[in-house]
Amino acid sequence: MAPEFTPGSVDYERQAGAFSRGRALSADAKAAWQAVAERWLAPLEPAHVLDLGSGTGRFSPLLAEWLGCTVTGVEPSEGMRATALRERAYPSVEYLAGDAAAIPLDDGACDGAWLMHVVHHVPDRPACARELSRVLRPGSRALIVGSYTVARRKIPLFRYFPEALRIMDDFPLAEQIIADFEPAGLRHEATEAVSYVTAPDLRAAAERTRLRADTTLQLISDEEFARGQARLDAAAEAETNPQPVVSGTDLIVFRRD
Ligand SMILES: C[S@@+](CC[C@H](N)C(=O)[O-])C[C@H]1O[C@@H](n2cnc3c(N)ncnc32)[C@H](O)[C@@H]1O
Repeated sequence: MAPEFTPGSVDYERQAGAFSRGRALSADAKAAWQAVAERWLAPLEPAHVLDLGSGTGRFSPLLAEWLGCTVTGVEPSEGMRATALRERAYPSVEYLAGDAAAIPLDDGACDGAWLMHVVHHVPDRPACARELSRVLRPGSRALIVGSYTVARRKIPLFRYFPEALRIMDDFPLAEQIIADFEPAGLRHEATEAVSYVTAPDLRAAAERTRLRADTTLQLISDEEFARGQARLDAAAEAETNPQPVVSGTDLIVFRRD
C-alpha cells in the first residue's frame, strides 16, 4: 500500500497561522524542553545553535534565552519564516531561508543543532546528516525530536483519532534515522522519551485538536477528523474530574565525532 505520509505531504505555506496557535507550548512542555536543552547542549557552552526546520520560531528565542547563545533558525517555507519574524523576533536570533540538505552556514559554525519534529519531513536524510556534520563543530551535538519509536502508538489523543496512527506509522523509526546519520560522522549517544502535560484537561485538548495543526490530523480524511473531534468533544463534555493530558515524544541525541 502506498504510504500516506511522505516528506512534502504537509504544505507548510498554508499552515503557518494554525501551526502557531495549534502547537503553542504548555508551561510544562517548555520546562521539559528547557531541561533537555540544558542537559545536552548547555554543558558544551554553546555560542551558536542551529534550529533546523525552525518553522514559526517556536523554539528559536527559547533556545537563545535558555542557553545564552545566538540562534539561527533555518526554514524553507516563506510563510513559516514570515510568521517567525512577525511573532518571534528576538535580538540574538536570525531566521534564514534554507533546507536540511543545504544549510546556509559555514563549516563548524554551530555548537549544537535542534531539530524539533522535522526529520520525518526531510526527503534526503543522509544529505541532512552530511550537512549537520559539516556545520557542527567536532564534539557538539544534534538533538532530533519526534515520534520515532513504537511508543508513538500510545499517544493519548490517538484514542479519539485512531486513524492518525496510520499516518504516523509512515514516520521513520529511530533505527532508520540512526542508520542514515551515523555514516556522516554523527555518533548515536542516546534515545529517550520526553513527557509533559500538553493540556490541563480534555476540554483544552479538544480546543487544540480543533485547529488541526498536527501533521497526523491534517492527513487523515475530513470525515475521520470530524468523527475523532466529535469523540473527543463528547469525552471532554463527560469529564467530571478533569485530569491533565500527558503526552510524550522521542529524543535522539547524536554527537559530532
Ligand atoms: C512540524 S514543523 C516543526 C517546526 C518547528 N521545528 C517547531 O517545532 O515548531 C516542521 C518544519 O520542518 C520544515 N521542513 C520541511 N522540510 C524541510 C527540509 N527539507 N529542511 C528543513 N526544514 C524542513 C517545515 O517547513 C516546517 O516548518
